[in-house]
Amino acid sequence: MSEERVIGIDLGTTNSCVATVEGGVPKVIANRGSYKTTPSIVAIAESGRRLVGHIAKRQAITNAQNTVYAAKRLIGRKYAHPVVQQARQVYPYKLVEGPTGDARIELRDKVYSVPELSAMVLGEMKKVAEEYFGGPVEKAVVTIPAYFNDGQRQATKDAGKIAGLDVIRIINEPTAAALAYGYKKNVKKRVAVFDLGGGTFDISVLDIQDGVFEVLATAGDTYLGGEDFDQRIVEWLVFGFAKEHKVDLRTDVMALQRLRDAAEKGKMELSVTASTEINLPFIMSTGKSDALHLQRTLTREKLEEMCGDLIERCIEICDRMLKEAKIRKDELQDVILVGGMTRMPKVQESVRAYFGMEPSKNVHPDEVVALGAAVQAAALTKSGPGQPDLLLLDVTPHNLGIMIAGGYFNTLIPANSTVPTSASHVFTTTRDDQTAVKIVVLQGDSEIASANELLGEFLLTGLPHAPRGSVEIDVTFDISPDGIVAVSARDRATGAEQSIQVTATNKLSEDEMKNIIKENEAFAVAEKSQEALGELRTQTERAVREIERLMPVVRDVIGASDFGDDALKKAQQVVERAKRAIAMQDAESLKGGREQLERTVVMFKGVAAKVGKA
Ligand SMILES: Nc1ncnc2c1ncn2[C@@H]1O[C@H](COP(=O)(O)OP(=O)(O)OP(=O)(O)O)[C@@H](O)[C@H]1O
Ligand SMILES: [Mg+2]
Repeated sequence: MSEERVIGIDLGTTNSCVATVEGGVPKVIANRGSYKTTPSIVAIAESGRRLVGHIAKRQAITNAQNTVYAAKRLIGRKYAHPVVQQARQVYPYKLVEGPTGDARIELRDKVYSVPELSAMVLGEMKKVAEEYFGGPVEKAVVTIPAYFNDGQRQATKDAGKIAGLDVIRIINEPTAAALAYGYKKNVKKRVAVFDLGGGTFDISVLDIQDGVFEVLATAGDTYLGGEDFDQRIVEWLVFGFAKEHKVDLRTDVMALQRLRDAAEKGKMELSVTASTEINLPFIMSTGKSDALHLQRTLTREKLEEMCGDLIERCIEICDRMLKEAKIRKDELQDVILVGGMTRMPKVQESVRAYFGMEPSKNVHPDEVVALGAAVQAAALTKSGPGQPDLLLLDVTPHNLGIMIAGGYFNTLIPANSTVPTSASHVFTTTRDDQTAVKIVVLQGDSEIASANELLGEFLLTGLPHAPRGSVEIDVTFDISPDGIVAVSARDRATGAEQSIQVTATNKLSEDEMKNIIKENEAFAVAEKSQEALGELRTQTERAVREIERLMPVVRDVIGASDFGDDALKKAQQVVERAKRAIAMQDAESLKGGREQLERTVVMFKGVAAKVGKA
């Protein structure tokens, strides 16, 4: 029996990667250009076409305002969140506030929710897999930063749904990396996974033993990654340029995009060399006939000085996590480096110095997360004897709790609890005849409720009329293996399920999800017909070229052939009609003219063959 087609997708801030398990071996699926990762970049072209991946990256400089990168930094976030406000200053695309207060992106007069944009990347990865398999793929495990909260997790799940995927599980990136590291390798170790990617940082500690992967603790920062390193370089270039030429490059979108590209390239180069030239000719025109050029030398030392605090933040997070989880560094047998940023020598050096050991380099930092996701996907879909050979026990990264009197935060499920898990809390009425109770659910570390992330307000309604304090409602908070929170309530006296209304969440509504999916389907149909038109046009152009190539040979001899004098005139008319159809991009005329065109090609070839000049 063939294995069911399931995939694992690492939806990265900078790069995405898709993998599958074949014959028990996880492998990355390369895209059409033979690249193993695809840039997580989406753009809307002037024609309205959606561009994803390398093709979107290549046009970013000339279409910066309509090119979205690092959307993952915004997923599941409120517009008012400080990091979204920070992102507004940095990214060339326009951020706007959505109907539920969520951050959205406006591209060519259309506002997109972030899950919609992430769905375009996921859809592209789905397509990469489908081209490889030669058939449809639906089931997928998608990875997310371990430190993602409920809103970010839900929004990623929504993105999967919009992309037409059945997301069978969401798993944490460092956990996925550990899976790929230890799967079927008889590993018995306690390891730390240090994952510094383009947008986020995660640190997790796991025990791996006989196919059981148990996460002991995790911590991170969902707004700390390579993007911030690039930004430091951009600022240094902008500042230096302003000092020299008294112009602010940030006012020019195209220049800024070129700076960003050059900054990232320079940063990457400095992982292997001690110094690099950043050379951007014609970076800005001065209005006269002159143009300004940017040329600067960046040394590794300077880069380390500019970004030292970012690396320091990673190490502080590791330190806090180990202390809180009461794990000693000498209990760790390995530190696994994951994410492109861990190629930076200073990052490796800091990890080595902090953990007191040489970090392991035997995993591929860009691919290991997708490989682990594929392993988990295969394990979740396999059935029958001898399976599964894998057990994953992950934890929830944040305290989950409710707001209590005085605006304080009452933790119900502490961070680093193994999921799935649940906790109950009894709510009661504080007024006579109170028929509704509001529950404010939050995630975070602060004792002050408002300093934590609001997951939603849940309204218990339809309570019986009774004196205060006599109605008791049992509210249960569940965290699924995906790390997603669900709330349910039951009347203690009657045992009846209590209805809950969820408000104040920035999740996409069911209706909006449906509309987006419908719109995407229409878009896919339009794209398909566009593709079909392109194909028709290419075929027609090819036939016209062939006829025109043979024309000089055929012209003089066709009259004497079985086709007669008329044939030449007719052939010329057929070609003219085809050219008109090409110019008008008219599918019907192209289709209509195809048969005659093909016949003419055959006729011309036949005549040419007869005179030995086909
Ligand atoms: N050789 C290198 N030296 C320094 N940085 C590098 C190197 N190669 C890649 N990077 C950086 O690594 C980052 C991308 O890493 P990666 O692909 O692991 O991130 P991601 O998975 O897309 O993001 P995240 O996991 O944070 O969502 C980029 O910022 C890139 O510039
Ligand atoms: Mg990553």
